[in-house]
Amino acid sequence: MYTYSDQNAETYSKLGITGTTYESGFNEARKIFGDLSGKTALDFGSGAGRTAQLLLSMGASRVVGVDHNQSMIDQAKKLSNPKLEFIKIEKMIPFPDNTFDVAIAAHVFVEVGSIEEMRQISQEVHRVLKPGGSFVIITNNSQAMGCNYISYGYPKNDNLKSGDKMPCTIKKGKESFVIDDYFWMEDDYRNVLEKIGFSVSMSFPLVSGNNWLDEAKIASHVVINAVK
Ligand SMILES: C[S@@+](CC[C@H](N)C(=O)[O-])C[C@H]1O[C@@H](n2cnc3c(N)ncnc32)[C@H](O)[C@@H]1O
Repeated sequence: MYTYSDQNAETYSKLGITGTTYESGFNEARKIFGDLSGKTALDFGSGAGRTAQLLLSMGASRVVGVDHNQSMIDQAKKLSNPKLEFIKIEKMIPFPDNTFDVAIAAHVFVEVGSIEEMRQISQEVHRVLKPGGSFVIITNNSQAMGCNYISYGYPKNDNLKSGDKMPCTIKKGKESFVIDDYFWMEDDYRNVLEKIGFSVSMSFPLVSGNNWLDEAKIASHVVINAVK
């Protein structure tokens, strides 16, 4: 498990979405969720809170972010909006069954080091999600390793197998830091989610325009819509 320092959490809080490599994945999530007016949303692995803010901007009446890293929780709490709540968790999500209309885990599953942990997280999200609700996972496209992206990079490695560690350099202007991520294939996600009972579909969104590096050629992310 990677532990973000206060400084890395602060850098993370400045990453943003528009004009970054993260934009295409979040746009796809926006399309899947549609209007969230009056809905409650769970943001699993909420980090410094940018995904939670996006969900609010889509109309959600209440967003709960959960994360196991205290520095990220402290950073997110600085957003101080009464519709946003951030809770440090260990494993369990402290809510009853069928609480949330929708859930998201953005850029979280690359930090998950085993299939068992992926299963435990997905099972817990399934429990607190209402029937028919979407759990959107934005994570790395397994075909995108070695690509030259604006916001982060992984070294090219054609020999990666599911569960292998890979260093990720996260970039924001002159600031950067390296964290250990894990390589997973799309079938790893599908197998875990379908065994739990989710119906799974996947998309690989691209961006268009001139201001991109490899983002316009090879989708940086796979966006998974797992419906309970
Ligand atoms: C790369 S950050 C992404 C943050 C946020 N979703 C975003 O896109 O801005 C991944 C976050 O997931 C959290 N995380 C990873 N594994 C977790 C787990 N098993 N339980 C709770 N939080 C987790 C990390 O602490 C970190 O804050």
